[in-house]
Amino acid sequence: FLSVGITGTGSYLPEKELTNFDLENIVDTTDEWIKTRTGISKRRVAEDKIATSDLATEAAKRAIDNAGLSAEDIDLIIVATVTPDMAFPSTACIVQKNIGAKNAAAFDIEAACSGFIYGITIGEQFIKSGVYKNVLVIGAETLSKILNWKDRNTCVLFGDGAGAAILQPVKEGYGILSSSLGADGSSGDYLTQPAGGSRIPASIETVANNLHYVQMDGSEVFKFAVRIMAKSTLQAIESSGLKLNDIDYMIPHQANIRIIEAAAKRLNLDMDKVYVNLNNYGNMSAASVPVALDEAVRKGNIKTGDIVTLVAFGGGLTWGSSVIRW
Ligand code: ACO
Repeated sequence: FLSVGITGTGSYLPEKELTNFDLENIVDTTDEWIKTRTGISKRRVAEDKIATSDLATEAAKRAIDNAGLSAEDIDLIIVATVTPDMAFPSTACIVQKNIGAKNAAAFDIEAACSGFIYGITIGEQFIKSGVYKNVLVIGAETLSKILNWKDRNTCVLFGDGAGAAILQPVKEGYGILSSSLGADGSSGDYLTQPAGGSRIPASIETVANNLHYVQMDGSEVFKFAVRIMAKSTLQAIESSGLKLNDIDYMIPHQANIRIIEAAAKRLNLDMDKVYVNLNNYGNMSAASVPVALDEAVRKGNIKTGDIVTLVAFGGGLTWGSSVIRW
């Protein structure tokens, strides 16, 4: 089998910034509460006319450029999102058009915050099997569009953004060494956007009852997240044949600093080795991991040969972890 690695990264964030102090004017909350409970200070939000594909397109261009490719080299585009521009066409097809990747197949996947890790795992299979050479995986979200800005339990937690990566064959022994994906649909009710699909189609009543917005049981998600981040990382490390103390760097999903710290503690991992940017951006769902990865790479925090683990959890419920020799 070929080895498959990440050979380029890119990210893009909408310009408009919303601080905790701005939120104090919108809902009954305080900067102090948000910071101490979550670690978040501010987040980016897309202006009215900006959709998920607009952010995804910019992140994609940056990743393609970073890998030294042109859009026509791309064989497959996978977009992970829970906030597609619309149900169809897929956001991946809109990105394909925007960047001129006329030789690429394109589809969306939905695994909520774990979407990017699911996406690179799917892309890896297409390259390993010899079907494709250059795969573009994007995590992109505009959660701000599906938040209830009157619900302080949810609206303070999320932000908008997009991150992208190019997957290509790499030298043997490098690239993705192993991945571990999982799901527990029986706990799916903890995190939902109930209306707008075929179960509860959008109607005047669904809008009146806020059913097209994110609904969340925060404390259940919190408990699940701490447990699964550690478990999923352990599983991926085990199947790579490495040990926990071989990890040089971790890029976790950026939902809550307390979740990240608790997971790092369970894994006996020093916080110096963990990338955190949720203070600036909040939880960007499928975009969190690829934006953090792009920042860490560009800052030089990750060096060739480093063992990097990506780990995420999210709606579904879903989770995933990848171990990569950079
Ligand atoms: N400002 C002020 N008070 C608030 C706010 C706010 N923004 N939000 C909630 N509160 C209040 C509640 O009303 C509640 O008050 P009450 O006790 O009088 O009823 C109290 O604060 C809740 O306190 P705790 O339960 O102790 O809060 P906790 O420490 O659990 O933090 C939080 C809540 C931040 C939501 C936490 O549970 C969490 O991070 N959970 C995980 C959420 C998550 O990661 N979701 C995303 C998953 S990824 C995806 O797929 C999208």
